Amino acid sequence: MKLVKTISEVRAEVGRARSSGRSIGLVPTMGFLHEGHLSLADRCCELAGYVVMSIYVNPLQFGPSEDFDEYPRALERDLALAEERGVDLVFAPADRELYPTELTVTVAPRRLADRLCGLSRPGHFEGVLTVVGKLFGIVQPDLAVFGQKDFQQAVLIQKMVIDLDMPVRVEVAPTVREADGIAMSSRNEYLSADERRRALSISRGLAGALRSFRSGERDAAMIGRGVLQTMEEAGGVDVEYVEVVSADDLEPVQQADEETVVVVAARVGTTRLIDNARLGAPDPGLARLL
Ligand code: PAF
Repeated sequence: MKLVKTISEVRAEVGRARSSGRSIGLVPTMGFLHEGHLSLADRCCELAGYVVMSIYVNPLQFGPSEDFDEYPRALERDLALAEERGVDLVFAPADRELYPTELTVTVAPRRLADRLCGLSRPGHFEGVLTVVGKLFGIVQPDLAVFGQKDFQQAVLIQKMVIDLDMPVRVEVAPTVREADGIAMSSRNEYLSADERRRALSISRGLAGALRSFRSGERDAAMIGRGVLQTMEEAGGVDVEYVEVVSADDLEPVQQADEETVVVVAARVGTTRLIDNARLGAPDPGLARLL
């Protein structure tokens, strides 16, 4: 595995791989890798002949009062983990490499980004789409793998490649959970033991939504209410939203079906957590809680 820090090195390495006939896969990350990221690398290795992972904490997607400075970083450890999982190239640029001058053009999402996480994180998805668009331009992958945990992000990236005619296949890989059900996230690091215990109400609530859907409940409001109640009962969980939405356009639905997703965001202490469950899809980590 090779580590590179400049755009020209990425282009040279990827160019060589492509001319040897290999397809190119990209796994964009902000580093501090956990099993969730590594499962994206695994999926990418299954689908592509040459796998690039980017490791970059993108300042553009953090608001002024968010955790950009505290965001955990561990490049040496990340490199060892990425190599173990078969990544061919890690691109870990410095800020001045990606943003040498103030941008005059960004990728600004429209309506879909104004709701759910977009409400409390204005500008966040513009920052995400801009850096992902840049990474697509730099690596020119045939496919890129993102996690379902960041559901709104994954939908917006899928819409971006369609609307801007980017020739990249976007693959969304299932959420990986800890044994207790919590969705893996670099931000779980911030939780105290007590906060973590309370945070488990999020996955418990989602498991409850799956249970009620499987036993025939189709009233989206009822399903959402059950999730909210579980989270509120835990105490110390400041619910930002619980919504029951269509997987395609994130619009709230009245009647749930297989394509419906329950999306959740909450603050536990100072840590903001998100999670979701697709009602028609298997989620072994949530099924374990049933
Ligand atoms: O999901 C993330 O870690 C980030 O939003 C991404 C896609 C790497 C862009 O910075």
